[in-house]
Amino acid sequence: MKSIVSTAAGDWVRPDSVHRSAYVDRDVFDAEQRRFFGATWNFVAHDSQLAKPGSYVTLDLAGRPLLVLREGDGSVGVFYNRCAHKGTKLYTDEAGEAGRMLRCPYHAWTYKLDGSPLGIPLRRDYDLQALTDCEAGRGLTRVGAVRNYRGFVFVRLDAQGVGFDDYFGASLVWLDNMADRSPTGRLQVAGGVIRNVMRCNWKMYLENINDSVHPVSAHESAGKSAKAQWEESRPPGQAALPMAVEQLLPFASGYDFFEGMDAEVYPNGHSAMGVSVSSHSAYAQPAGYEEALNAAHGPERTREILGRSPQNVVLYPSIAIKGAPLAMRVIRPLAVDRTLVEAWSFRAEDAPDLLLQRALSYNRLVFSPMSILAHDDVHLFEAVQQGLQADANPWVSLHRSFDPAELEATGTQHCKGTSELLMRNQHRAWSRFMNTMEAE
Ligand code: FES
Ligand SMILES: [Fe+2]
Repeated sequence: MKSIVSTAAGDWVRPDSVHRSAYVDRDVFDAEQRRFFGATWNFVAHDSQLAKPGSYVTLDLAGRPLLVLREGDGSVGVFYNRCAHKGTKLYTDEAGEAGRMLRCPYHAWTYKLDGSPLGIPLRRDYDLQALTDCEAGRGLTRVGAVRNYRGFVFVRLDAQGVGFDDYFGASLVWLDNMADRSPTGRLQVAGGVIRNVMRCNWKMYLENINDSVHPVSAHESAGKSAKAQWEESRPPGQAALPMAVEQLLPFASGYDFFEGMDAEVYPNGHSAMGVSVSSHSAYAQPAGYEEALNAAHGPERTREILGRSPQNVVLYPSIAIKGAPLAMRVIRPLAVDRTLVEAWSFRAEDAPDLLLQRALSYNRLVFSPMSILAHDDVHLFEAVQQGLQADANPWVSLHRSFDPAELEATGTQHCKGTSELLMRNQHRAWSRFMNTMEAE
């Protein structure tokens, strides 16, 4: 099979289709780990996870172990989780408290909370000048760039590259929309994280977040069962829907509903599905919540926040957020055919607890292994990954609602909710970052 790495720029992604090697070729995966994930901005942590100086979380981003740390000055720093001596990971817990300094478990080199060197056992046996002059003497290495936006911490691994504001552009309004669902503008990670490993390439998972056509067929049985169950058990005269019913019934909708959701796409792969209406639009607001938001943000901003509840906003390529249920998915490629998907829930500070319950309920019902819907997707992701092993037709179709004018567009584009523009937009960004890096 011809490797994508050796093909000419532009060959990988056609205007209306994508070469299957983007999903199944290990060389492609290795190349994108270095190039694409080095050049793009990726979510690493939420600052509510870092209560005080020395609090840390660890993660793996595109094969690099990272340490996200609350530094002594209160800022959030992101370092490679790699001791300057022999490379040991400083911390292997998912999260913890380092205290006033970082200490390597192997030979006890220590570092200040800004990553600079603090102490070395048997210091007298070192040529201190030689040590200071070399890489090891400089302490921990920071990633290329870090930005804490409304509590969401993102990194760019490469030292040089596109800036945060240019990279996300207009899509940042959706992080504002989510954070401003708290009267104080602050969110807190709560209720634990649900993890699933999907046996598919990460791109297929990200595409599916924007695939509003599949629920009608793939989730037909789940949606119809939920509807039938509710109609059978509904107490006479009860209009208000229980939370689970409110969250599951929209999956029984037809193509018209999904088409009418409408969507926006932004440069660099980002998108918002459901900008006109979504399955979250009709959620009832808890008593007193709107009043609290009015008092904090003013009536106009409150209407704007609550009036826009997209189905999914993809901040490409690492997260997808849902403002109304305060839920987020984090997408981590593990191998060409393995993707870790995490479902996170948020509490909105000074807002009713019902909002957190809604997030937890949604994640359990729709994204957890016990979901009545998720197994439909899990099966299909695996089936796609297996099907694409066949090279008879090397191209994956993304033709739906294609318009040649979209190739010239530079800013926000609007489309029907059922358009595959959202997916084409992801692949165009992927191709551009892969090619840019190759050209350098
Ligand atoms: S590897 Fe960290 S102190 Fe030796
Ligand atoms: Fe699905």
